[in-house]
Amino acid sequence: MADNPKRTVLLGLTGGIAAYKAAELARLLIQDGFTVQAVMTAAATRFVTPATLQALTGRPVHTDLWDASVPNSMAHIDLSRDADLILVAPASADFLAKLAGGLADDLLSTLCLARDCPLMVAPAMNRQMWERAATRRNIATLEKDGVTILGPASGDQACGETGMGRMIEPDALLQAVRGFFQPKVLEGRRVLITAGPTFEAVDPVRGITNRSSGKMGYAIARAALDAGARVTLVSGPVSLAPPAGAKSVNVVSAAEMFDAVKKEVKDADVFIGVAAVADYRPVKASGEKIKKTRGHVTLELTRNPDILEYVAGRPKPPFCVGFAAESEDLERYAQEKRKKKNVPLLAANLAQTAIGGDENELILFDDDGRHELARAPKEVIARQLVEHIAALYAEQQSARHRKG
Ligand code: CTP
Repeated sequence: MADNPKRTVLLGLTGGIAAYKAAELARLLIQDGFTVQAVMTAAATRFVTPATLQALTGRPVHTDLWDASVPNSMAHIDLSRDADLILVAPASADFLAKLAGGLADDLLSTLCLARDCPLMVAPAMNRQMWERAATRRNIATLEKDGVTILGPASGDQACGETGMGRMIEPDALLQAVRGFFQPKVLEGRRVLITAGPTFEAVDPVRGITNRSSGKMGYAIARAALDAGARVTLVSGPVSLAPPAGAKSVNVVSAAEMFDAVKKEVKDADVFIGVAAVADYRPVKASGEKIKKTRGHVTLELTRNPDILEYVAGRPKPPFCVGFAAESEDLERYAQEKRKKKNVPLLAANLAQTAIGGDENELILFDDDGRHELARAPKEVIARQLVEHIAALYAEQQSARHRKG
């Protein structure tokens, strides 16, 4: 899905077993349309060979400050000038200490010191090394110096122990790099999103729900974060990890989702209702498991509150975005829904294409008419939608400003 501009990421590898994962990261970055220049420390070459990285990136890998093939002996300056971002993954405890102290005794540490682009590091080490006071101090110093620390994660370690210190997975690093390059069109804005299905209990073991996977809502949360927003994600039961950096609130029923939204909506600038909220719930959930009988059973249902309508109807509503999944007559139903719910933007799709899958296609309805977002992975659709929302939100704000 090469929709990234041609940007250069200088990928630095230091000595650690997670270096093998950096090879996968290089592959993902290249596949995503980035140019990747790998630079390895001597210790990193003990874990993976420069030939591996060269084959994956299609570029010679630099390892030596004293490389005679660089005519002006200024590899550290040239390499850092060409980079839009430096990502050191894995970053060993030793390398983090060097960075924090401003040492420059090999190519990678020298070009980090000589850089004029942002620096991200993905620490990877044994949990005791990560917890050691010296490492804590180094991390605090790097954060103060404006270095972005990605991870680490907790889990099984190569040394056989379990704990904090694993490098975060290549896919999560790819997301962080992608996010870094996204235009910050929602910088500082507070965005509240509902996602996933709701589950309406019938008895302690049964309930009414739907097939929403939450993927679209979670992708929108990720895209809004990447656009610089502060994101709160109120989610029904799904099997997805919330995007790092979002405030996540887990709920089960529509009533719980409504309560969570009422609590969180007060200072939201934008509200995006992606959740497939159950319109009805059982009038009374049974406290005990319902036993089967010979005859028919009737389940009496009552309406759930409409969360989107409530938010859009508040005295000073945030910019509201609704979703509509229809099985037919998409355009007519979507237009009607936009009016009925009184929202400036409604994103409509055909239920058959949207639910559960990894791709989506949307038609956006707003005051200017309709805009089609052609079929693409949900992350791509989410980024396009967030850009559209940001543009409309900015228009709305400047119109309000003009009115005084
Ligand atoms: N929505 C909501 N609260 C509800 C129901 C829906 O916030 N109780 C929001 C969804 O998050 C979505 C939009 O409203 O943004 C979807 O419209 P929806 O109401 O589901 O369509 P329906 O009104 O259910 O219309 P119908 O079932 O008649 O198609």
